[in-house]
Amino acid sequence: MKITPARPDDVSKLIAFREEAAAWLSRLGSDQWQRPYPADRLAAAIEAGSVFMVMDGDLTAATITLSPEAEEGLWTDEELAEPSIFITKLTVARTHAGQDLGGRVLNWACDRAYRGGATWLRLDAWTTNEPLQLYYLQQGFEHVRTVRAGGAVNGGPRVSGWLAQRRTAPTKHGFENAPA
Ligand SMILES: CC(C)(COP(=O)(O)OP(=O)(O)OC[C@H]1O[C@@H](n2cnc3c(N)ncnc32)[C@H](O)[C@@H]1OP(=O)(O)O)[C@@H](O)C(=O)NCCC(=O)NCCS
Repeated sequence: MKITPARPDDVSKLIAFREEAAAWLSRLGSDQWQRPYPADRLAAAIEAGSVFMVMDGDLTAATITLSPEAEEGLWTDEELAEPSIFITKLTVARTHAGQDLGGRVLNWACDRAYRGGATWLRLDAWTTNEPLQLYYLQQGFEHVRTVRAGGAVNGGPRVSGWLAQRRTAPTKHGFENAPA
């Protein structure tokens, strides 16, 4: 398997991929990701070189987005002063689940962030999704705090306010052709 930056014509593939994940999450009883992700924001992230795809031959096995920019209103000024990479939209295809592919992608992100000079790999996970939070704790992240207010809809509850971080380090991941 290899990791490659997404191309502009991957937008529809990535949207379908996310819809598949949302359908699985709904079957698990979670309300996570039930609102479709805006295609224009995805296209902009691809253009910025932030979106990566894990390819298993021609199949998309996973995706992750890495950005030096944080979502507004989550992290303090002191935290933002520390060099960090923010990960979003980590998704593994159900065909590839249960093989720790997500863990390998997180290791890759940790390694890449370290090489890029960041101290922290940071994320905001779905506020109400405890199994997902447990997953990140098992992947070496520490919970920083949960931000509950200031959501996108009328400043209401934050759907994605469970903040966590993992210190970056040189990390083995085993992917081919990972871009430097
Ligand atoms: C999180 C994810 C990338 C991990 O991939 P993976 O390494 O292949 O691991 P698995 O998919 O086997 O998941 C590991 C465990 O976490 C659980 N889990 C993962 N994401 C979950 C979620 N969003 N909600 C509830 N449980 C979740 C799985 O059910 C599984 O539990 P099990 O071990 O009891 O079967 C993948 O599960 C995924 O795509 N989840 C949906 C999208 C998502 O929530 N991404 C995180 C965005 S912050």
